[in-house]
Amino acid sequence: MMKELVKHLFPRMVREGDLRTTYTFCLGGLAFTSFLVLSVTGLLLLFYYSPTPERAHGSIQFLESGVWGGAYLRSLHRLASHALLVLVALHALRVILTGAFLHPRRMNWIVGCLLLFLAVFGAYTGYLLPMDQLAYWATQTGMELVRALPLGDALRALLVPDDVGGPLSLLRFYALHVVIVPLVMLVLAMLHFFVIRRQRGLLPYL
Ligand code: HEM
Repeated sequence: MMKELVKHLFPRMVREGDLRTTYTFCLGGLAFTSFLVLSVTGLLLLFYYSPTPERAHGSIQFLESGVWGGAYLRSLHRLASHALLVLVALHALRVILTGAFLHPRRMNWIVGCLLLFLAVFGAYTGYLLPMDQLAYWATQTGMELVRALPLGDALRALLVPDDVGGPLSLLRFYALHVVIVPLVMLVLAMLHFFVIRRQRGLLPYL
């Protein structure tokens, strides 16, 4: 099964038509590129960020003012996260407008919806990490909105057990942001690509 997966992810040849970007605008490919930039810059940020309420904000301030290229690194991470959200939204719009969510692409439509949710959730969990006023109140607002969902109170208690900005809540957001969400996104993206290749590429079907 693993061999099959690798074979489809890195095929020996790809049809020429599938490489043309006039149809897809390569929006999915660009979204994945943003995801890679996010992962690399995020990995570098880990060397300085401290996930405790007392030290989080200070560690970001130190990164901005005391580390060579630190402000640039942080801006790049933020920019890549904005790019990912915009590109994923445009990619989903393209899929809708070209009817690519219909049979036989249902599976990839569902995987895509999960990726969209995770991209938004990943951005949301990252927003708290600098622990400034904006981060605190934005997360607080999000958590109030969660309460309107079915089982919202239980979900809120799971995400912020000691309230927004508490040590355990910050740790949970940190774990979700740096490990869980990116890993699940990576696995789903591989599945997304596998299904595309398995269905013999994208074109022609309109
Ligand atoms: C991190 C997020 C995502 C990545 C990296 C990604 C990547 C890709 C790539 C590289 C393709 C090949 C064609 C293209 O570039 O447009 C593709 C196709 C596709 N994607 Fe995504 N995608 C993501 C999110 C989504 C979302 C949010 C949806 C829908 C809700 C979606 C649904 C689909 C479908 C149905 C196809 C097949 C399209 C076709 O056959 O024309 N994807 N995706």
